[in-house]
Amino acid sequence: MRTGKKILVSGVKPTGRPHIGNYFGAMKQMVDMQDEYDCSIFIADLHALTSVASGNLANSSGDDSALNVATNLAQNTLDLAIDYLAIGLDPKKVTLYKQSDTPQVAELAWIFNCITTMPYLSRAHAFKDAQAKEKETTVGVFDYPILMSADILLPGADIVPVGMDQKQHIEIARDTAEKFNRIFGETFAMPEPLITKDVAVVPGTDGQKMSKSYGNTIGLFASDEEILKAVMKIPTDSKGVDEPKNPDECKVFALHKLFADADLVDLKSRYEKGGIGYKESKEILARKISAFIAPLRAKREKIASDPEYVIDLLIAGGKKAQMKAEKKMEEVRKKVGLTFNQ
Ligand code: TYM
Repeated sequence: MRTGKKILVSGVKPTGRPHIGNYFGAMKQMVDMQDEYDCSIFIADLHALTSVASGNLANSSGDDSALNVATNLAQNTLDLAIDYLAIGLDPKKVTLYKQSDTPQVAELAWIFNCITTMPYLSRAHAFKDAQAKEKETTVGVFDYPILMSADILLPGADIVPVGMDQKQHIEIARDTAEKFNRIFGETFAMPEPLITKDVAVVPGTDGQKMSKSYGNTIGLFASDEEILKAVMKIPTDSKGVDEPKNPDECKVFALHKLFADADLVDLKSRYEKGGIGYKESKEILARKISAFIAPLRAKREKIASDPEYVIDLLIAGGKKAQMKAEKKMEEVRKKVGLTFNQ
């Protein structure tokens, strides 16, 4: 029987700068819940490797030579660690680590591979999307949900805060836990996704899901100029200032909802009655986003000035995570017959 706090596990892939969709959809929940839960929060660098084949880790000049890929991944990993600290994750409260410092997840993923069928994994949305786009999908992309199952099940997650796009991955982790437990006896806890209703799918500047791959993001640490530029390009219809507008059909208003404050009710009624133009609505939105980001950006700059401190934190977090992972893997190895002392 487990005692103490419930366990929360989540991660972000270091494949570029995080955006406000990542923050509101998942990262904010990690910060908000760090007192109440025993949190394992990681940088999913092994998962990021699945982007290598499609060149997503190449630098902006498009140079995806092996050296650049490695440099970019290492830099993105450090940057994401700084981001996590800047939004308020407290390394004294949470175990903060990079996924590759717990190689046990790759070992567990292999064991899971051996109890998972190909037709089952072929039904995953992300795999189907990748196959539709790429001529030749990698084994890594195909197996992505199984590595993610290992991330989640190894530390014994009770809850996994994520955005809606990860829902199916949590379902696969649950199926995998069930299957392993059925074959080898009760071993893994059943994780629940924590998908926060109003921010399950944060829209981007074009109204689709905000995503690094759609070029519709607002960076979590963007400058005021970048914020203004991104907001001003949000497409709207051609209604004039005085015409009534439907806030539910407006891509600008959809982003206003992230900052659910007293002004939102007033803004909604100005939309419905008429009397606000899209330009003004955008200016208000840009100001709100800037006011929210400015303190995060300042905190980030301070932390980024001492990368050694951040690397040391990650090393310490990695050791702690690895100790916990190894303990669970000893149990798993015994159950599947990889050790003599059954
Ligand atoms: P990643 O790096 O793509 O995204 C990180 C988190 O941000 C959420 N998210 C969003 N939420 C709401 N609206 C959006 N527009 C939006 N865009 C992204 C994602 O749902 C995610 O929660 N596979 C994961 C990383 C991972 C992981 C794990 C997560 C690896 N192992 C184990 C949880 C548990 C991913 O690619 O996230």
